[in-house]
Amino acid sequence: MSNIIIKSPREIEIMRQAGRITAAARTIAREMVAPGVTTAQIDREVRRFIEKSGAVPTFLGYGGYPASVCLSINDEVIHGIPGPRVIQEGDIVSVDVGATWKGYVGDCAGTYIAGTASEAAKNLIAVTRQSFFEGIKQARAGNRIGDISHAVQTYAEQNGCSVVREYVGHGVGSVMHEAPEVPNFGRAGRGPTLVKGMTIAVEPMVNAGGWEVYVLKDGWTVKTADGSLSAHYENTILITDGEPEILTYAEDL
Ligand code: MF3
Ligand code: CO
Repeated sequence: MSNIIIKSPREIEIMRQAGRITAAARTIAREMVAPGVTTAQIDREVRRFIEKSGAVPTFLGYGGYPASVCLSINDEVIHGIPGPRVIQEGDIVSVDVGATWKGYVGDCAGTYIAGTASEAAKNLIAVTRQSFFEGIKQARAGNRIGDISHAVQTYAEQNGCSVVREYVGHGVGSVMHEAPEVPNFGRAGRGPTLVKGMTIAVEPMVNAGGWEVYVLKDGWTVKTADGSLSAHYENTILITDGEPEILTYAEDL
């Protein structure tokens, strides 16, 4: 986790393919989010899709993680483990998925509503998503990582939310977590300089209440300390000569 790896054009083309598969897997999960569905059912379909695509579910077995997708409901922030839990009307479900294709990783996430959610939940999801887009406006060669971090934090906080500190975005490549770290908070003008050919996951985790979180006894599930709702939005992006390219692109971003 120390050297930032600049990808070659050949590697970038593979990462585009990995990203497309990963984003399509996220779409499958998104379309399954509904009252009455269990999180294990979603995991099963996502895994089936990734494997049918000839890719490997990146999360499965990663540090002992037991599933292909993370499904985090309401006050769960990230790393919720799929199982028998039944999604309820009004739940918000954060879907995080990774796929490895020809040795390269795609990583993306989004938060989706089961049925009809409260205005507060809809607002949180919209703020989280937009904080990502505010962040990547800064993701240009010559800028610094801190420019992205600062933009994410500023947007989220100006809209009455808070950003999680303990978990951050990251470089992505032949492994899921490469240098550099990409925090969702911090000062502009600080941190590593962005260079064309860098591939990073920008992933705001945004809480409706305070930023503090804790990990459940299952060793994975991260929840908000105050029980407030949390949302997540992530894409793997490529730094270019101009605007960043979203590698985990799908029609339904
Ligand atoms: N997208 C997440 C991350 O960037 C998910 C990792 S879950 C794990 O860290 F189980 F694979 F660790
Ligand atoms: Co990630």
